[in-house]
Amino acid sequence: RGKRAFIAGVADDNGYGWAIAKALAAAGAEILVGTWVPALNIFETSLRRGKFDESRRLPNGSLMHIAKVYPLDAVYDTPEDVPEDVKTNKRYAGSSNWTVKEVAESVKNDFGSIDILVHSLANAPEVTKPLLETSRRGYLAAISASSYSFVSLLQHFLPIMNPGGATVSLTYIASERTIPGYGGGMSSAKAALESDTGVLAFEAGRKGQIRVNTISAGPLGSRAAKAIGFIEKMIDYSYSNAPLQKELLADEVGNTAAFLVSPLASAVTGSVVYVDNGLNTMGLAI
Ligand code: NAI
Repeated sequence: RGKRAFIAGVADDNGYGWAIAKALAAAGAEILVGTWVPALNIFETSLRRGKFDESRRLPNGSLMHIAKVYPLDAVYDTPEDVPEDVKTNKRYAGSSNWTVKEVAESVKNDFGSIDILVHSLANAPEVTKPLLETSRRGYLAAISASSYSFVSLLQHFLPIMNPGGATVSLTYIASERTIPGYGGGMSSAKAALESDTGVLAFEAGRKGQIRVNTISAGPLGSRAAKAIGFIEKMIDYSYSNAPLQKELLADEVGNTAAFLVSPLASAVTGSVVYVDNGLNTMGLAI
């Protein structure tokens, strides 16, 4: 039987989530995606109109098929958690069942089970502010959207994950080294995500024979990264200073994710795996 993957955090064809979906599709997995509610309309319209057809192309020439797109807002676990102003917001009112619990239920009703869970999402309203100027609300929002969202997804999807399955999330080295400008609590959120990777690897391993890993990816000019404001500088810095002086392709992260969730990585869990042209190993840039 082929594997089935749910990838949370795909809303265009530029980010890591899209590249991971493609790598998994190329390896034969069935692809379900979770798309942030406010981005759903434009994503589905673009898909339908063929705007992504070129980037849907897989190495064998066929086009990646997305079996279903689920609206998702990973900062809400159940309908009771959704505040009134969000419920009635017109970008949300057109969709339903998009809290984490409801999405897991919908996937269960539609497909029964999954084998692979991918978390490729982050958000921090104050990301352009230094930590020293970040509000409590902004900091907690970053953690909620970027770290707890993974805890919640795993909590709700674990019961429908087949034993032997695996999860992967995306992190960034700003968790462990200081990257000025990666603000708003995002560095803190990534530190939480990495620490949780170990704890959840233990808990989900014991409870459901599920592996939990995270990829510490190098810089990519995705939509989310452009919101930070200095992604081009990060890409240039990496090019100048990394052991491998080449562009980092989203597909390289996609391929590593496909490896990590495959039986080839059956003994790898609780790990932070660097896919960054080796930049993390450098102590002095020359
Ligand atoms: P992206 O823009 O493709 O992905 C972020 C996604 O998160 C978007 O689709 C957005 O709609 C979604 N999202 C935001 N808030 C959400 C919510 N509350 N519920 C559901 N979805 C929500 O950008 P990218 O950069 O590919 O990000 C994917 C992951 O990779 C993130 O965790 C990011 O921190 C991580 N990463 C990115 C790096 C980069 O340089 N682009 C470097 C290292 C890690």
